[in-house]
Amino acid sequence: MDNNREHWGSKIGFILAAAGSAIGLGNIWRFPYLVGENGGAAFIILYLLCVVLVGLPLVIAEILIGRTAQKNPVGSFRELSNHNPFWVGVGVLGVLTGLMILSYYNVVAGWSLGYVVESARGSFQHIGDPEKAGILFDQLSASWTWSLFFSACFMMFTIGIIYFGVIQGIEKASKIMLPILFLLIILLVIRGVTLEGARAGICYLTKPDFSAINGKTALLAFGQVFFSLSLGMGALLTYGSYMTKNEKIVSSAVSVVVLNTSVSLLAGFMIFPPLLALGMKPAQGPSLIFNILPVMFNSIPGGYFFRIIFFLLLSMAALTSTISLLEVITAFVVDEFRLSRKKASVILGGIVFLLGVPSALSAGRLENFTILKLTFFQLVDFISANIFLPLGGIFIALFVGWFWGMKKAIPNLLEGSVALPGFIVTIWSILIRFVAPVLILLIFLNSLGII
Ligand code: PHE
Repeated sequence: MDNNREHWGSKIGFILAAAGSAIGLGNIWRFPYLVGENGGAAFIILYLLCVVLVGLPLVIAEILIGRTAQKNPVGSFRELSNHNPFWVGVGVLGVLTGLMILSYYNVVAGWSLGYVVESARGSFQHIGDPEKAGILFDQLSASWTWSLFFSACFMMFTIGIIYFGVIQGIEKASKIMLPILFLLIILLVIRGVTLEGARAGICYLTKPDFSAINGKTALLAFGQVFFSLSLGMGALLTYGSYMTKNEKIVSSAVSVVVLNTSVSLLAGFMIFPPLLALGMKPAQGPSLIFNILPVMFNSIPGGYFFRIIFFLLLSMAALTSTISLLEVITAFVVDEFRLSRKKASVILGGIVFLLGVPSALSAGRLENFTILKLTFFQLVDFISANIFLPLGGIFIALFVGWFWGMKKAIPNLLEGSVALPGFIVTIWSILIRFVAPVLILLIFLNSLGII
């Protein structure tokens, strides 16, 4: 093992950091609006199915690649494939995807930070209907000074953590932020479900209506699994590369997936009961969080404080994800070009911030600049989340299942967990070799309109 490589300071270090990467805007911003637009409980069931059949096996595979090779995504694929250029390319695709996601994710993260400040200033106190809140959101996000200021702040926080490395930076930050995050979300769930009329929301989340399920919803559920689990671009691989060989991969992966899924479900119970109790519609699309929620808190006792807490929660969840994205790129540059971590994190953070400027301006000055009918922001989001992540997922499954092969994968998986029951290994190998690649391929072709 590379003795110079930093490793997690404790077993829980990896779990918290990886769960932090997974838990983010995907759970609190994306998941609730997808549920709201696609049939509530039925969508949730479909999502859970995708998590078990494709998500979990791939999380295990991705961590396994990183822990075995002890390198960044490019270096790991290079080493395990004996310098095969195709697989090196898969690693490069991962790093590029990370760069793309971070560039626009940081913009949304900046908005949520801006909303903490606006909430504290009382900007939403007198807004009575979501439409007016929408106008305020449009004004704020279209103001390039507001939007760029907060996204610059956010990137500085991210750099500030990556700068200090694996134990002092990522692990420490995750150990502090994740417990606070759980506490805040539980507080908000209790507030939500104890409101008068919360029943409607609870029913909405627990009574499935399967007529809402079709090919498109399946695709959305799949995309959400990849995005939410930080899967398919090397974040889990990179975090896995800081694991020692005596840590258990399968049980760590299960913990990460369970933590991530519970936060998504909790986010549903935090948002829908108050929403429906106040007679608002669940299907509001991506603007749900920035238009509806600020107003919703006005009708809730203690709303001023709960609103600040909510956006603080959102910002912290985003921060534990942005650090994992910047870490992928930083680890690549540090390993491959021998640059110091401190220099690499500052330079790369700066570059990604600049790459995000057109996304930030998509809400304002560049609103009418569209490619394939999508704004720059939507285009980067679509390509990275809906195309590159599932593509990365297929490649990871094919690599571990067929190219590197089970003969090498299984002994490496068992290292650190000799007591792993044989049937679990068998199920995993079936899922990774057959089920995951076939399902992703079908959904993928369907989304491109080919089948
Ligand atoms: N999983 C994160 C979220 O749900 C987003 C993310 C995607 C982070 C890919 C890292 C890599 O918000």
